Amino acid sequence: MDDVTLLRELTPTAEKLYERHLAQTKEWFPHEYVPWDRGPSVVVDRPWRPEDSGLPQAVRSALFVNLLTEDNLPYYLRDVQRLFGDNDVWGQWTRRWTAEEARHSVVIRDYLTLSNAIDPIELERGRMQQMSTAQVPDPPTTAQGLVYLALQELATRISHHNTGKLITDPAGQEVMKRVAFDENFHYLFYRDLASAAFELDASALTVALEAEVLGFAMPGTGIPDFASHSRAISKAGIYDFRVHHEQILVPVVLRHWGIAGLRGLSPEGQRAQASIVAYVDKVGRVASRLSERALEVPTDV
Ligand SMILES: [Fe+2]
Ligand SMILES: [Fe+2]
Repeated sequence: MDDVTLLRELTPTAEKLYERHLAQTKEWFPHEYVPWDRGPSVVVDRPWRPEDSGLPQAVRSALFVNLLTEDNLPYYLRDVQRLFGDNDVWGQWTRRWTAEEARHSVVIRDYLTLSNAIDPIELERGRMQQMSTAQVPDPPTTAQGLVYLALQELATRISHHNTGKLITDPAGQEVMKRVAFDENFHYLFYRDLASAAFELDASALTVALEAEVLGFAMPGTGIPDFASHSRAISKAGIYDFRVHHEQILVPVVLRHWGIAGLRGLSPEGQRAQASIVAYVDKVGRVASRLSERALEVPTDV
C-alpha cells in the first residue's frame, strides 16, 4: 500500500485517536513546576562548577541530552509534516503535538537554570550547535515514520521518567514526571495508529518495522559529545539495552503488535518477521550479559 493510500485509509482512526487524545490530556502550566524562589542563587558572576549542581555526571548527561532533544522540535515538525501532510486531522494532530512538545523544553530549561543543575553555557552552546545542524532521524516512508514515532515517544517517556527518578530534588522529579506523562500520550497515539496500519497492510508494516527496529536510534545525533553522554546514560541504567528490550521491544513489538504471531504475510513480510524476532532475542541476550557484568563492576552513579 503506498503512502497516500495508507494515510487515506488511516484517517478515520487518526480522527478517533485525536479525539481520544484531546479528551484524555489535561491543561498544565510550566511555570507552576519551576522553583522560582531559587532565582537569587543562579550562577551568573563566575563559571559554573559541577559542585554547583549536586547531581551525578550521568544524570547531568541525561538532562543535557533530553533537553537538547526537545529543543530540536522544529526539525521533527518538518519531517512529521512531510510524512503526514498538513491537511485535516493530520495537520490538526501535528500542530497540537508540536504545541505540547514545545512546553517540554520550556519547563526543563527553566528548572535547570534555576537549580544550577547543569552548565548553562555548555547547554546553550550545545543547543546552538545541535540546532544549527538540523540532524534528526528521518524515516523515509509513512509506515516507517509511524512505527518509529511510536517507539521513539515511548523511549523518550522512559528516558525522562528514569532521569527524574535519579534527581534527588523533588521539584526536578516533578518536572520530569510531568513531561514523561505527556510523552506517554504521544506514544499511545502513534502506537494505536501503527496497530491500525498493521491491520491494513501487515506485510508492509512488518518490513517497515524491521528497518526501524534494527536501525533504531534515539534522536540525538548532532548533540555535542553524544556518544559519551549516551554511554553515561546507559551505565546509569536510564536507557540501556535492558530497558530497550524489556520496556520497548518485548511489550510493544512482540506483545502489542504481536509480530511473531502475524499470519498470511508476503515472503518479504515473513523474512522481516523472522529478522525482527531474532533481533529482539539477540538484544535480550546482550542485555542479560551486560546486566551480569554490571553486577560484578559497580557503576560510578
Ligand atoms: Fe517531548
Ligand atoms: Fe512526545
